[in-house]
Amino acid sequence: MGVTATGSPQTAIFSCDTIKLDLGGREILKGISLAVAPGEVLGIIGPNGAGKTSLFEVLSGRIAPKSGKVWFDGSDITGLQLFQRARLGIGRTYQTPLVPEDLTVREVFKGARQAFAPYLTRHHAEWGMELVNLRVDEAMPANRLETLNRRKLLLACLLMRRPKLLLLDEPAAGLINAEVDELDHLIRLLSKEMSVSIIIVEHRIELLATIADRVMVMDAGEKIIEGDLDTVIADPRVHAAYFENVEEAELA
Ligand SMILES: Nc1ncnc2c1ncn2[C@@H]1O[C@H](COP(=O)(O)OP(=O)(O)OP(=O)(O)O)[C@@H](O)[C@H]1O
Ligand SMILES: [Mg+2]
Repeated sequence: MGVTATGSPQTAIFSCDTIKLDLGGREILKGISLAVAPGEVLGIIGPNGAGKTSLFEVLSGRIAPKSGKVWFDGSDITGLQLFQRARLGIGRTYQTPLVPEDLTVREVFKGARQAFAPYLTRHHAEWGMELVNLRVDEAMPANRLETLNRRKLLLACLLMRRPKLLLLDEPAAGLINAEVDELDHLIRLLSKEMSVSIIIVEHRIELLATIADRVMVMDAGEKIIEGDLDTVIADPRVHAAYFENVEEAELA
C-alpha cells in the first residue's frame, strides 16, 4: 500500500501520496500525503484557502492531480473518476449542502436510489434515512429543509450505498450546538460501530475533540503537522497559521 504519510496507519484502507495540484496557474496543493484505517476519523483543519476543499476534489475524483497517487483498498485509484470511486465505496459531502430545486424530500431520496442503487428495495435504501434519523414530512420541498436536515438527507443518499470512506467538508458549519451533538453521535456510530473511515474538514474544534482519532493541519497547500488534537493545537506553527487567522465566528 503506497503510504508514506508520517504517523499513518499500517492498515490503511485509503491513502494519498504526495498530491500536487495547480489551479488557475497557482500551486494549490504542494505534496499532501495522508492515510486512514478502517473506522478511523481523520480531522483536517487549516485557515481559509489552505486547500482543504481542493484536496477533497482530488480525493473524491472530481479533479485529477498534477502528480501523486490515491490508493483505496490496496488499489491505485488515481485514474478513476468521481462516479467510479463512488461505486467503490467513497462518498463525499460538500461545504454547501445543495439539494435539487422543486423536488420533495421523497423525490430526492428516490432519485438517488434510482441513480445509485436501483438494485435496492425501498426498505434497504431507507436504512440510511433511519440511520441519520431524518424526521421530516417527506412531501415537503427539500430546499425548505433546515441546514442539518439537508445534510442528513444528502448523507442518507450516500449511505444507501454502504460507503467504506466518507469525505465530509465542514458538516457542522451553520449548526447550533445541539445539532453538532447529533452530528457527533452519527459520526461515531458510522466510524466506531460500522467501521466507516471518515476524513472530516471542520473548524469546530469541540467536535474534532470528541470524534477525531488524529488531526492534520494544512496551510497554503501543505501539511504543517499531524497527530492527536492536543499535540497539534499546542504546536506554535499551528497557532501562527490557524488560530491567529481563523475568524472568531468559526470557532464560536
Ligand atoms: N477552480 C479554481 N481556480 C483557481 N483557484 C482556485 C480554484 N478553486 C480553489 N482555488 C484557490 O485554491 C485555494 C484553496 O481553496 P480551497 O477552497 O481548497 O480552500 P479551503 O481550505 O477549503 O478554504 P475554506 O476554509 O475557505 O473552505 C484558494 O486560494 C482558492 O482561491
Ligand atoms: Mg473549503
